[in-house]
Amino acid sequence: MSSTESSKCVTVSTLLEMKKNRQKITSLTAYDYSFAQQIDQAGVDVVLVGDSLGMVIQGRETTIPVTMDEMVYHASMVGRGVERALLLADLPFMSYATPEQALQNGGRLMKETGAQMVKLEGGVDQVETVSLLVSRNIPVCAHLGLQPQSIHRLGGYRVQGRESDSAQQMISDALVLEQAGASMLVLECIPSTLAAEITAALDIPVIGIGAGTDCDGQVLVLYDMLGITMGKTPRFVKDFMSGSGTVSGALSSYVTAVRDKSFPAAEHTFQ
Ligand code: KIV
Repeated sequence: MSSTESSKCVTVSTLLEMKKNRQKITSLTAYDYSFAQQIDQAGVDVVLVGDSLGMVIQGRETTIPVTMDEMVYHASMVGRGVERALLLADLPFMSYATPEQALQNGGRLMKETGAQMVKLEGGVDQVETVSLLVSRNIPVCAHLGLQPQSIHRLGGYRVQGRESDSAQQMISDALVLEQAGASMLVLECIPSTLAAEITAALDIPVIGIGAGTDCDGQVLVLYDMLGITMGKTPRFVKDFMSGSGTVSGALSSYVTAVRDKSFPAAEHTFQ
């Protein structure tokens, strides 16, 4: 890609500007080259190589078994398919148990896959790690609310932040992560009013999944929004394939619906 072309690509500054201008940010997960190309061409702003691949690609019960080598393998394929979107990749469970380990593995994702940002789960306990990564030029996306890597501690996939002390803790976690240098925040499965409050309190973009319409943007797991995932899908998922007929049609409908705020609707939102 030439330097003129790359100036059209989505960067951390583009996302900050979008937040300031109240333009909704679109994001989807991808795990391979062909879907990454389609997602990128649909105009999605952030492509996330999520550790959800453990569940939707590998058929595991949780994201916990996913390894660094598997993340590097999938993120490299996705990286080859993405031209315009910002490439975000998850640090998997136990790949950032210490700041030094996070630095080594975050550096690996950046060097070996073309990821422009790495995502990690956790609140105030991750402040030292976020500061270290950012000081070494590894942009970080934090992840609060339902944190799938903590599923055994949390005791199940449940809405988080419904009680006032856990809501206050989440607000303070979000603020300290921003102060530590995080460039973006994902909020998963929390009441829409809490997500709106956190979004308004932060300067960095906040991307929601099951967090209502007032976040700066939305993310979904690709296979959920294409209606591929079998069994019971979470309340916050909409199947964009039914009614669209083609993958590219479903992706375009998603981008339009996030931008015009028709997705998520009340039926996809938690109170
Ligand atoms: O792994 C993933 O797909 C994620 C999204 C649910 C945000 O973290």
